Amino acid sequence: MNRQNHSPDIPDVKPSPARLPPGKVWLVGAGPGDPDLLTLKAARLIAAADAIVYDHLIGEGIITLARPDARLIYAGKQSSRHTLPQEQINALLLTLTRQNLAVLRLKGGDPFIFGRGGEELEALAAAGVPFEVVPGITAASGCAAYAGFPLTHRDHAQMLTLVTAHRKRGGLDLDWAALAHARQTLVFYMGVGAAEEISRQLIAHRLPAVTPVAVVRQGTLATQTAIFSTLAEFPARLRAEKVEPPALIVVGSVVDLHERLSARQHDSVQAMRHL
Ligand SMILES: C[S@@+](CC[C@H](N)C(=O)[O-])C[C@H]1O[C@@H](n2cnc3c(N)ncnc32)[C@H](O)[C@@H]1O
Repeated sequence: MNRQNHSPDIPDVKPSPARLPPGKVWLVGAGPGDPDLLTLKAARLIAAADAIVYDHLIGEGIITLARPDARLIYAGKQSSRHTLPQEQINALLLTLTRQNLAVLRLKGGDPFIFGRGGEELEALAAAGVPFEVVPGITAASGCAAYAGFPLTHRDHAQMLTLVTAHRKRGGLDLDWAALAHARQTLVFYMGVGAAEEISRQLIAHRLPAVTPVAVVRQGTLATQTAIFSTLAEFPARLRAEKVEPPALIVVGSVVDLHERLSARQHDSVQAMRHL
């Protein structure tokens, strides 16, 4: 079954007689990948929408919840390979709502965390289109939980900082001095291509080179892998193991707790997959 539409053409879909009010957009977080991590509200909306505009990080098991006659439009966003420019996605949402469709804008993780959800809502608001936001589990929560370590802990980290490592014009424009503090956890989204810079800058700003680092790839999916290393060594490990996005880089001593916590957790995650 291939119901994906890789072109921005506006489909000729009949508005459904269904329950969702037409002409409205739901901006929905799909979580980090495992369909079991969808909220009930997200699952209900996916199953009812007339049209679903979805991103690269939405897992197969989630899209298959859509109505058989729903129009599925892939809007892409794979690192630097943007399938549809943001302006075209905004315009697409407006056009679909003008066709009186109930439109689901489905994004990986949480739409308000490095998801450009705000930008899309600004366009809808400016055009007077009604919308609703449904939060999702962000990659940081999903990856940490499935890799077996907490993000905060009274003995390790009283602060949690989510950082985008998406490069604009060459380098990262980050306040490294503020980031390089002990007793906090740093989570870098979109950081694989910036691993060397993250390591070099944090060490230069006096975060110990032995600070534990986890890199979790395809977190919460059956294909999840995790590399446990240190601030000094993780870029070389990523190169050696040819790690590609999507991956999350977590820096901080909470990471070391996986040694005690992940074995039993692994069993229970595997057991859940068989439920
Ligand atoms: C554009 S950001 C979107 C973040 C999303 N809105 C969220 O709340 O998780 C994409 C980045 O999120 C991270 N990411 C998303 N899903 C992931 C997953 N399942 N495993 C590891 N990293 C993930 C990666 O760093 C990826 O490059």
